Amino acid sequence: MADRDPGVMTGQSGGTARSPGIGWNDLMALDSRPAPACLTEESYEFRGSQPIKAERYTSEAFAQAEREKMWPHVWQFAAREEDMPEPGDYVVYENAGRSYLFSRQADGSVKAYHNVCLHRGRKLRTEDGSADSFTCPFHGFSWNKDGSFAGMPCQWDFAHLTPDKMALPEAEVGRWAGYIFVREESGGPTLEEFLAPLPDHFKRWRHEECTTVIWVAKEVPANWKVTAEAFMEAWHTIVTHPQLLAFTGDCNAAYRTWGDNVNVNLVPFGIMSPHVDPEGKTQQWIVDEFVKFNGRSADNYDGEAGIDPFAVTVPEGVTARAALGTAMRNGYTAQSGYDHEDATDAELLDGLVYNVFPNFAPWGGFMPNIVYRWRPGKTPDTCLMEVRILARGKKGEPLPHGVPMTLLGPDEPWTTAAEIGVLGDVFEQDMANLPFVQDGLHCSKNGLVNFADYQEIRIRQFHQTLDKYLDGELGGRA
Ligand code: FES
Ligand SMILES: [Fe+2]
Repeated sequence: MADRDPGVMTGQSGGTARSPGIGWNDLMALDSRPAPACLTEESYEFRGSQPIKAERYTSEAFAQAEREKMWPHVWQFAAREEDMPEPGDYVVYENAGRSYLFSRQADGSVKAYHNVCLHRGRKLRTEDGSADSFTCPFHGFSWNKDGSFAGMPCQWDFAHLTPDKMALPEAEVGRWAGYIFVREESGGPTLEEFLAPLPDHFKRWRHEECTTVIWVAKEVPANWKVTAEAFMEAWHTIVTHPQLLAFTGDCNAAYRTWGDNVNVNLVPFGIMSPHVDPEGKTQQWIVDEFVKFNGRSADNYDGEAGIDPFAVTVPEGVTARAALGTAMRNGYTAQSGYDHEDATDAELLDGLVYNVFPNFAPWGGFMPNIVYRWRPGKTPDTCLMEVRILARGKKGEPLPHGVPMTLLGPDEPWTTAAEIGVLGDVFEQDMANLPFVQDGLHCSKNGLVNFADYQEIRIRQFHQTLDKYLDGELGGRA
C-alpha cells in the first residue's frame, strides 16, 4: 500500500554491528549452570533500515484498518485460567471494538461468546463474575452458559426468534500454559503454530504453575504501538532509567526474532552497563545497587516485608550474577517447593522479555514473571497498558484465584498502585516520554520514524507483520 511506504531505502547490509563489551552468549558461557538452547541459539535477520510513517501511530484510518484487517485474525491473549477457575465463572474481555464473554463450562472447557444481547444490543455483562446463565438486564432475554438460548419474557411477541437462531455467536478459544486466547475469525494458524517457538521455550518456565498475584492497568495518552514499543528495547535505559545502569547490561542485551509473531529481548542483570565507569566498582557494589533498587518489590514477592532475600555478600572470586543467582535459586525453591537446581543464573535474574504479535509480552524465567498487554483506546492517541505479575504456586497445592485488575486513570501515576513496588517508578519514567512521543508524531515535519538495525529489530518485525495483515498477506482480507 503506497500510503504506508515512505519509499526511502538505505543500505541493505546493516544489522551486523553490536555493542562493545561482553555479549549475551559470553555471559551464558559463564553461567553457573549449562544454558538451555532457547537462550543461546541466535535468531536475528536483518530486515532493512528504512523509516516508517509516523501516521501509523496517529491516524484514525490506520487504526480502523487495524480493527478490520488485523485484530479479528490474530490470537489475542484474553484471560488467565486463574481468572475463571470454576464452572460458571465468566470473564469479560474487550478489545478493538469487540466485547467477549468467556464462560467456564461444566467439563472445564472454556467458551467465548460475543457479549452482545441478540435483542437490542445491550452488553450482557460488564464485569467478571460467576453464573450458570446470562440474562440481559434490559428486557430479560436469557442464555445458558453453553451459549444456547434459554428464553425471553413475552415470548408470544417473538414468534420470529426461534431458539435455533438465538445461540450466542462464538469466537475461537485457544489455551496454552495458563493463558486463554481468543480469535474472532476462524482459519489461519493454530494457536501452537501462531505462538511458535514460545511454547517450546516456556516448557522450562511452566507458566501453567503460576497465578496472577498483581494486576495493574493504566490508561496511557499514547498510541498502543508507541506504548508497546517502549518495552521492546532495553537501550533507552541509558537516558530514561539511569538508576538501573549499575546492574543492567542494557547494551549487552540480545535481540532475537522468529518468523512473524515472536521475538525476545534478553537483558542481563547483575552486570554493570558499559555506560558505567568501572573504576573502583566491585562485584559487591553491583549487588548492593541491585538490592537498593529492588528491595521493595522483593518484599512483595516473599511476603516478608522488610526482609530482602537477595541482599547477599559476594564471596571472593564470585561474580555478582552468580551470587544473586544462588540466592534466588534457594529463595524460589523455598518459596514454591519446586526444585530450581538446574535453573541458570540467567533464568533466575535476567529480563527474558518475549513479545507475541500483536500485544502480548510474557517474561520467561523462574522469577515472578511480568506479563504486559497493550490495547488500543477509543482514539489512536490513547491505549490501555496492563502489567500482571505471575508467581509460581506452591508445589502440590491448588493455584490460588487470580487477583482482580486495579485500573489507574490517565492522571493516576503507576506509583499509585503500591503493589507493583519499584516497577511503578520505572514505568513513570517511561510515561514521562510517551505523551510527548505521541504529540511529537503528530507534529513531525518529515512524518517519518527511524529504527536501529539491531536493538530495535523487534519493532521493525512488528511493523512488517502488521503490514502483512493490512495488505492481506496474512488474515486473508486485502
Ligand atoms: S436488549 Fe437485551 S433483552 Fe432487550
Ligand atoms: Fe523503560
